[in-house]
Amino acid sequence: MSDGFIGVFDSGAGGISVLKNLVAELPQERFLFFGDSANAPYGDKDPADILLLSRRIVDMLLEQGAKAIVIACNTATSAAAATLRDEYPDIPIVGVEPALKPAVLAFPRGKILVMATAATLTLEKFHRLEEQWARQAEVVPVACVGLVELIEKGDLSSPELYAHLRNLVGPYRGQVDAVVLGCTHYPFVRDVIRDVVGDVPFFDGGAGTARQLRTVLAARGLLANPLDKGSVTFASSKDTADELALYQHFFELGL
Ligand code: DGL
Repeated sequence: MSDGFIGVFDSGAGGISVLKNLVAELPQERFLFFGDSANAPYGDKDPADILLLSRRIVDMLLEQGAKAIVIACNTATSAAAATLRDEYPDIPIVGVEPALKPAVLAFPRGKILVMATAATLTLEKFHRLEEQWARQAEVVPVACVGLVELIEKGDLSSPELYAHLRNLVGPYRGQVDAVVLGCTHYPFVRDVIRDVVGDVPFFDGGAGTARQLRTVLAARGLLANPLDKGSVTFASSKDTADELALYQHFFELGL
C-alpha cells in the first residue's frame, strides 16, 4: 500500500473528464490534476513540442512526489507516453486512447465517427489502432480543429459552439452508428455533439483509463489503503483564481 498521490495532467481542463472516472474508480486515492491551459491546445502542435511540454509536467509532478502519472490527454499520450515510459521505467504512466475498440465491438460492420485532435489522428498510435479495427467497421476520423479553444473558454453551449460543431460534424447527422470522443475535452460538449450528429451511442476512454490505473497500481502494490480518505487538488499553468474555479466547475458537472 502507498500514501503517495497520483499526478494527472492534460493540455487544459479536458482531462477533468478522465479525472472524474479516476475518482469514481479509486475514491480512496489522492489526485493532483494539472492543466496546461497556458499552452493549450496541444492538438495543433508539433509532436516534439508536445513531448517537451509533457515531460516538463511529469518532472514537476514527480518532484512533488507523485507515485503514478495519468496522461489524461489523447494527444499527449500519442506524442509522449512511449518516450516518457522509457525515461521513467519505475513510475507507472497510464495514458488514454480513443475508445475505438469498444465502439467497433458494439457496432461490428457499423460506421464509427472518431472525433479527435489533428495531432492524435496524424500520429502513428492512431494509425495502428485504426489498422487493427478498420477491417471490422468503417472508421471515419474527423480532426476537430478549434473545438478545444471554445471548451477551454468554458463555452459548453453557445451559438458559436453549435455553429462550429455543425461545420465540423453536421454532415454526419444520421450517417453514423456511434461516435468516439477521442479528445478528453469533448465529453464536456457531448450533449451539443449529440444535438448536431444525432442520438447515437457515444464512447470515450475515461472509464477504461480508470480501470487500467487500478490494474497498474494493484500490480505494483501502490493502491492506497481502502480506508483512506481521497482528495482532489487542482493546479494550472494559467494560475489564476478564475481558471481554478473553471476546473472546479468542470469537475462538478455531471457527464
Ligand atoms: N484534451 C486533449 C486530448 O485528449 C488535447 C486537446 C488539445 O489540447 O488540443 O487530446
